[in-house]
Amino acid sequence: MPRLQGRTALITGASRGIGEAIALRFAAEGCDVAANYLAEPGRDNAAEAARVAQQIESLGCRALCVEADVTDLASVQQMAAQVIETFGHLDILVNNAGITRDRTLKKLEKPDWDAVLAVNLTGVYHCTHAVIEHMREHEYGRIISIASVVGQTGNLGQTNYAASKAGVIGFTKALAREVARRGITVNAIAPGFIDTEMTQAMPDEARAAVLATIPIGRLGEPAHVADAALFLASDEAAYITGHVLNVNGGLYM
Ligand code: NAI
Repeated sequence: MPRLQGRTALITGASRGIGEAIALRFAAEGCDVAANYLAEPGRDNAAEAARVAQQIESLGCRALCVEADVTDLASVQQMAAQVIETFGHLDILVNNAGITRDRTLKKLEKPDWDAVLAVNLTGVYHCTHAVIEHMREHEYGRIISIASVVGQTGNLGQTNYAASKAGVIGFTKALAREVARRGITVNAIAPGFIDTEMTQAMPDEARAAVLATIPIGRLGEPAHVADAALFLASDEAAYITGHVLNVNGGLYM
């Protein structure tokens, strides 16, 4: 029996990277998936999301591509309503959308602080707020947010990113307490360094320096994070809430 048969999920930032891997992993286990994407200037995320949706359908599940900027509450509310109307119910939310704007604090201007907090933390609030009442009414829900090892340890040049991801961890634990008796679990995943566009953008020396500190000796793959998300979404994790699951090759223990 597929582990997410009959379930539906909304995954933010699902057009590539970790979000795409989670979408396909869930679909491989029978889950209908709404793949959120952002219309970004200079790249065709709609086409990338459509490609992900095609793969979801080829796995025998329903797919929906929904454009929304997670920083915009009105479009997030519209997205949630569209997903619930299309699938009839929403069981799983994966808050995956995230960005970096790395600078040492001395050079970090307010727009780069605001942008990272808006996507990585306020976006999590927007999306979760937009679906929590539905999940409470159904007395079932799985909320999984992608935090980061950087929210646990800090990292040079990432005060904005570290603050946003530490915020996601605090949000997760607080909400887990609020909704625990309503059949809703709320967990976070803290990936280490995963081989996606986000880390491919790092300078070579920075990548090499990071690699040297990972006990397992290699970067993680999006599939490693997707497997952790599948576990937290599955019935096997029914008694786990408020947890931060490290997927980091031993980088932080
Ligand atoms: P990525 O850059 O490949 O993908 C990020 C996704 O988020 C893209 O689909 C992008 O369009 C979407 N997005 C960005 N801003 C958005 C917005 N305002 N509204 C809707 N979607 C938006 O990055 P990656 O690596 O797949 O990251 C996914 C998540 O995992 C992020 O939250 C990131 O912070 C987190 N993470 C990544 C790590 C890594 O090493 N790659 C390590 C730890 C955490």
